Amino acid sequence: MAEAKQKIPGPLAKQYVKRDKEVISPSYTRSYPFVMDHGKGSLVWDVDGNQFIDFTAGIAVNATGHCHPEVVQAIKDQADKFIHMSGTDFYYKVQIELAEKLNAIVPGREQKQVFFTNSGTEAVEAAFKLARYSTGCTRMIAFLGAFHGRSMGALSLTASKYVHRAGFSPLVPGVTHVPYGYCYRCAYNLEYPSCDIYCVKYIEDTLFRRLVSPEEVAAIFVEPIQGEGGYVVPPPLYHQRLRELTDKYDILLVDDEIQAGMGRTGKMFAIEHWGVVPDIVCIAKGIASGMPLGAMVASKRQMTWPSGAHGNTFGGNPISCAAALATIRLIEGGYMQNAARMGERFLERLKSMQGKHPSMGDVRGLGLMIGVELVKDKDTKEPAVELRDAVVQKCFEQGLLILGCGMSTVRFMPALNITADLVDEGLEIFERALTEAEKEV
Ligand SMILES: Cc1ncc(COP(=O)(O)O)c(C=O)c1O
Repeated sequence: MAEAKQKIPGPLAKQYVKRDKEVISPSYTRSYPFVMDHGKGSLVWDVDGNQFIDFTAGIAVNATGHCHPEVVQAIKDQADKFIHMSGTDFYYKVQIELAEKLNAIVPGREQKQVFFTNSGTEAVEAAFKLARYSTGCTRMIAFLGAFHGRSMGALSLTASKYVHRAGFSPLVPGVTHVPYGYCYRCAYNLEYPSCDIYCVKYIEDTLFRRLVSPEEVAAIFVEPIQGEGGYVVPPPLYHQRLRELTDKYDILLVDDEIQAGMGRTGKMFAIEHWGVVPDIVCIAKGIASGMPLGAMVASKRQMTWPSGAHGNTFGGNPISCAAALATIRLIEGGYMQNAARMGERFLERLKSMQGKHPSMGDVRGLGLMIGVELVKDKDTKEPAVELRDAVVQKCFEQGLLILGCGMSTVRFMPALNITADLVDEGLEIFERALTEAEKEV
């Protein structure tokens, strides 16, 4: 039950936010003053004792909910043995076991190898470097709306909001962005399926003819479902067509599963919904239930770089690896199926709300990666940015944590083991907040 003990934010939360403002970088993107005290499953409590339903899971990270006892136990057991030894310079069992497990679950039968990182952006950075190294080519293709991270290589691939880039140029040269398969707002004003996935055809017909020689392209980086860009699910055949294109021109297909992967969409990796085997897969966020860990997984054939070419101090931290092994056990043990079931519940309820609410332009998603794009008018599709922000704020005040993405989308990305009761209760709060905001904004 999401119950507020007092007005939100309470006095303690206000004090912490004031202190935070003095000492924490202003570049962070806090939407509302939620100051966490503790969490259990899909419920969280703030420092004033207010309870909230968590539809954010720490931005798609707490795959098994907050403080799952099996994950906590794995962390404690590993901490009792050793906390760090640097997987770049030494060997240890949990890192090897996790790499073996990833080898087994990442799409593709070919033998793979793993480079461990601490975050998503580092996994993308590693993929960027490996793609250049192993192909000898320098150029990359990525998509408008993409978010791949904020370190310089990953940022060069990112194109979701200008604020991520403003003031940081020059970025890594050689990245060309093209429109994504965003059917609700097709860049070419076409309609699926008569478009015949023109957004992929465009790369060959226009980009490769006029601007970029495919021979110079090392890789195409793609999110199976765009995350930060608005929870955009591309049409059927989209990824197959990208695979055909990359195969034809001997270009690597890098699949950024950082937000969509690890069971969130009802399959271990979202690209499996399209039946595509990428060359490189980037993983982070949900892999270790909140312990910092990322991975760049590539075929052994692709891992041509020699000792010393790439490494880091903390990547593959033993506690993170132990948490990841426990997390994967739980995902495979039923949480992935729950994500698929609860995702259907979300979609069903949201679609039935859609007819009653003039602002619910598009409802979309797979598993527990669900977006509702809010618009001022369903015909003009003008983004309702203020309305979206008001809904997010009102939900917070009424005991539900959600976040926005894209221009005017609300995203739902709870833990994979969320219960039906909490889904229903959270959606009731969402609808109430939306109804109020539609009247006020
Ligand atoms: C698809 C995708 N790639 C990369 C990243 C970057 O991950 P991190 O914030 O861990 O660096 C994110 C983060 O939101 C993401 O959603």
